[in-house]
Amino acid sequence: MKKNLLVYLICLLCIAMTSSCKSNDDTKTVPETVKFMVISDIHYFDPSLFTLPANAYFQGYLTADRKLIIESSAILKNVLATVMTEKPDFLLITGDLTKDGEKIDHQALAALFKDLSDNGIKVLVIPGNHDVNNPSAYSYTGTTQTAISNVTATDFASIYTNCGYGNAVERDPSSLSYVSEPVNGIWVMGIDACHYTPSETAGSISTTTLSWVKSIITKSKAKNKVLLSMMHHGMVEHFTGQSTMFSEYVIADWKNVSSALADSGMNVVFTGHFHAQDIAKGTGTKGFIYDVETGSTVTASCPYRIATLNTVNKTLKITSGKIDGVTYSTIPTGTNFQTYARDYLTTGMKTISYYMLTSAPYNIPASAVTGYKLDDIFTNAFVAHYAGDETASASDNTDIQTVSKLIPTLGGAIQSVWTDPAPKDNNITINLKTGEVTNN
Ligand SMILES: [Fe+2]
Repeated sequence: MKKNLLVYLICLLCIAMTSSCKSNDDTKTVPETVKFMVISDIHYFDPSLFTLPANAYFQGYLTADRKLIIESSAILKNVLATVMTEKPDFLLITGDLTKDGEKIDHQALAALFKDLSDNGIKVLVIPGNHDVNNPSAYSYTGTTQTAISNVTATDFASIYTNCGYGNAVERDPSSLSYVSEPVNGIWVMGIDACHYTPSETAGSISTTTLSWVKSIITKSKAKNKVLLSMMHHGMVEHFTGQSTMFSEYVIADWKNVSSALADSGMNVVFTGHFHAQDIAKGTGTKGFIYDVETGSTVTASCPYRIATLNTVNKTLKITSGKIDGVTYSTIPTGTNFQTYARDYLTTGMKTISYYMLTSAPYNIPASAVTGYKLDDIFTNAFVAHYAGDETASASDNTDIQTVSKLIPTLGGAIQSVWTDPAPKDNNITINLKTGEVTNN
């Protein structure tokens, strides 16, 4: 009998201890403030995959582009050093991790991110349109262009097992969407809106993934978690007409999807894709959603964001910085990196603008493009939009009127790119309870 009583008491003790541990797990302290950083569109291209000077194939790629691909590895290492100094709780990377989905690049990135996680900074990634099943994965060494291995969606989740997928709280069976809890009480939902079969620039949240996203919003509320979301493609337009002019940069059916998610209680989503620093507010019938787009590290102004979430007041303070001090063999000694990046973008955008304006559907004669400096006017507008908090000067407004007189629709487009709806783009604080914003 005594022995039975002893066994009974031990059992009671065990049950008490077990329930006590569970209780501790459920009520682990949620920190009052959580610091995290965001970078986007890092487009890493490993230096082992090309030789300099760029061969004809690589030069052809670079000329038709606006990204600092050659310097991408040096830029990334520079900003990761800043992350290490800032010591956030976690780092979000909102897609387009690689130049074109090269397996070697993904593996190199996973190793670089491990350095951060080994130092207590969790890294969470989501794929962009360049990252999975990309047929343009090439190396450019010597005089050749060589097709190299890319990655499948399964490979992606496996390579980034330490960057969200391996310790996910939830996974969407039909996409690379997941939920991670990098800090107790904070859920980060990575939404995969990319199209892989075939790989293309446009994005959409499929019906099944949208149901999954809504279920996560509901679960986060039931479990009293603060929900932050991230996605590569834009959730809402960042200037009027973006979804018409650049339809591949905002998710399909963005008005209905953003409205539904705002009403479901998703209040903030970090995005990338268009390489611009821009914050835009979407609304539903009763809710709101801030799309905090972060510019690309390889496109001037080469920004990063630092955010502080106050879990008590439910405020999200966002500040922005610019990468600087990058050195590489292509950057002339004594040239400031920000100056180099801006000049590179201006040159690249002028080429792209000239091509766009002289091609269908515009088909503007080359003499008119150069005569009226239309390529310069387009370039100025986009360089300003990429940096965020853009304001057209008197001479920019004169340029807009010049274009409007020539081709009214294009004038309207330029005007729209220059028009930056509230809120500000770089430094604001969002009240996640009311949706109100104050400038920092
Ligand atoms: Fe990108």
